[in-house]
Amino acid sequence: MVSDAAWPPWDSAAGREALARGNVQVLRFRCDVASREPIEQLTAEERARRERFRNADDRIRYTLGRFWLRRLVSDLTGQPEGDLRFDRGPSGKPFLRDTPLQFNLAHSGDIGLLAVHRSAAVGVDVERHRVFEWEQVARHVFTEAEISVFASVAASERPAMFFRCWTRKEAYLKGLGEGFQRDPRKVDLCGMPSRTMLVDGWSVVDLEVGTGCSAAVAFEVPSDLILWALAE
Ligand SMILES: CC(C)(COP(=O)(O)OP(=O)(O)OC[C@H]1O[C@@H](n2cnc3c(N)ncnc32)[C@H](O)[C@@H]1OP(=O)(O)O)[C@@H](O)C(=O)NCCC(=O)NCCS
Repeated sequence: MVSDAAWPPWDSAAGREALARGNVQVLRFRCDVASREPIEQLTAEERARRERFRNADDRIRYTLGRFWLRRLVSDLTGQPEGDLRFDRGPSGKPFLRDTPLQFNLAHSGDIGLLAVHRSAAVGVDVERHRVFEWEQVARHVFTEAEISVFASVAASERPAMFFRCWTRKEAYLKGLGEGFQRDPRKVDLCGMPSRTMLVDGWSVVDLEVGTGCSAAVAFEVPSDLILWALAE
């Protein structure tokens, strides 16, 4: 269950209790590209990965994502940040070695989201709405039924609908961790008007992150969803 009054300030003691209870949690942090970039905390592998982003803002978002990932996982587990060892699955999904804790990260604009569960897979996505040639993209990721839903709404409503659907789908695919080997055109999540959907045993939940932005989280266990925001 999610309440609209969600996103209270992060409380690490309550977060640890929720983790122990088996709740899915989403922690929201600020990805301010004007802030200092804590590059010194990156491992050599992360620095190499950071270099691959052509856009300077994307590099900063990447560094801030890793920074908050370490800080929050350490808060939740009590493990020192320097002891956390990350690896990547066959399709690139990052995971933590030597612990069952599952997480997934997403960032867009100045919003970063981290989803965590003590042992079950999670996926999260956030997207700032932007205007682009949606028909081109839609053919690659949406079902015929979804495309006709987009085509039927007024142009002014389309970005919100498009990105609501996109983030649901991407959160689910990121949760599965198969990357986009799973054909996104075979998963229909757009026709569902409710904020919480069930797909093949997964829950996919829309998150309210503010005007001009869509976000969703997906998790493979029945669970309450707890949301937190880090102080700005
Ligand atoms: C992994 C992928 C999904 C990231 O998407 P993105 O929108 O660029 O970025 P997001 O902010 O959502 O997520 C980035 C984070 O996802 C995580 N991630 C990377 N590969 C992943 C994978 N295979 N599965 C799950 N999570 C992954 C990483 O933690 C990454 O953050 P980091 O690089 O800072 O560590 C991207 O590589 C991709 O394949 N995008 C395809 C987009 C697409 O066609 N979407 C269809 C929409 S339905």
